[in-house]
Amino acid sequence: MTMKLRKVAIVGTGLVGSSCAFSLINQCVCEEILMIDINEERAKGEAWDITHAVEYMPYKTKVYSAKYEECKDVDAIIITAGAPPKLGQTRLDTLGISAKICRSIVEPIMESGFNGFFILVSNPVDIIAYHVWKLSGLPKNKIIGTGTSVDSARLKTILSEKLEGIDTKSIQAFSMGEHGDSQMVPWSHISVAGEPFLKMIDKNDKLRNINLDEIVTKTAKVGWEIYERKGTTYYGIAAAAIGIIKSIFHDEKRIIPVSAMLNGEYGEENIYTGVPCIIGKNGVEKVIEIEMTEDELVRFKRSNSVLREYMSTIGY
Ligand code: LAC
Repeated sequence: MTMKLRKVAIVGTGLVGSSCAFSLINQCVCEEILMIDINEERAKGEAWDITHAVEYMPYKTKVYSAKYEECKDVDAIIITAGAPPKLGQTRLDTLGISAKICRSIVEPIMESGFNGFFILVSNPVDIIAYHVWKLSGLPKNKIIGTGTSVDSARLKTILSEKLEGIDTKSIQAFSMGEHGDSQMVPWSHISVAGEPFLKMIDKNDKLRNINLDEIVTKTAKVGWEIYERKGTTYYGIAAAAIGIIKSIFHDEKRIIPVSAMLNGEYGEENIYTGVPCIIGKNGVEKVIEIEMTEDELVRFKRSNSVLREYMSTIGY
């Protein structure tokens, strides 16, 4: 019997892609990483640099530059390639060019015989996930957008600061809808140690006047605040992408807010949007349908209509 080695390919080996690779070797998620980039020399350079780090990691990972033809037996492919927004643009403004780039990536990958999971990072990620689902012909559970996974980490960080430093992992909180400005937070489902956050703030003099809408705006905008300071983001999003892959490879069945296809859940169809999902060995194993308040549902649907409007610009 030959052991099946777990392989992850990363398409787009810029700062996001290389951070994904670094996160993978740090956490011993797979045995091989294929670095693929239109700039083959860049992919080679990153593969060598990361290979030199493996010496000091707890486990062995083979990291090498590769081509689409080598993706046949790869388990998961992370796509980070796309057109980063210019200053003043939103993620949605990059859709046209990112959709074209994605087509040029997904077609040769599918020709290789690939039948694994796609993890989409390229923005606007919700629409790109839908696009890759269409282009690849793979079942919807295998196509996962990072969606609001990183926004949820940002939200928890903000809440942790409000709650005098309580560990973010002890806070149950997540954003939903577009990975972008129109995302929303279902406050009625946010809790700490089982206690609803809304009840908690009511009982606490310091928190009573907290402005929830401001927290949502800050959650959505903090990515831009990073962008203004260092030109892009990569560690947070890379860790979120690898969190999704770990949950698949180890069949963790962790609930992660990702961009997934809705098929009747929340009264929505035929759209990729940010929702909490059970992520296990089959990818998206279940979209969790939380019971939202009327106001929350209106906000969620508003965010989805923003996505639909942009989807229509590329013919969906
Ligand atoms: C971010 C990018 C990935 O929010 O959209 O960090």
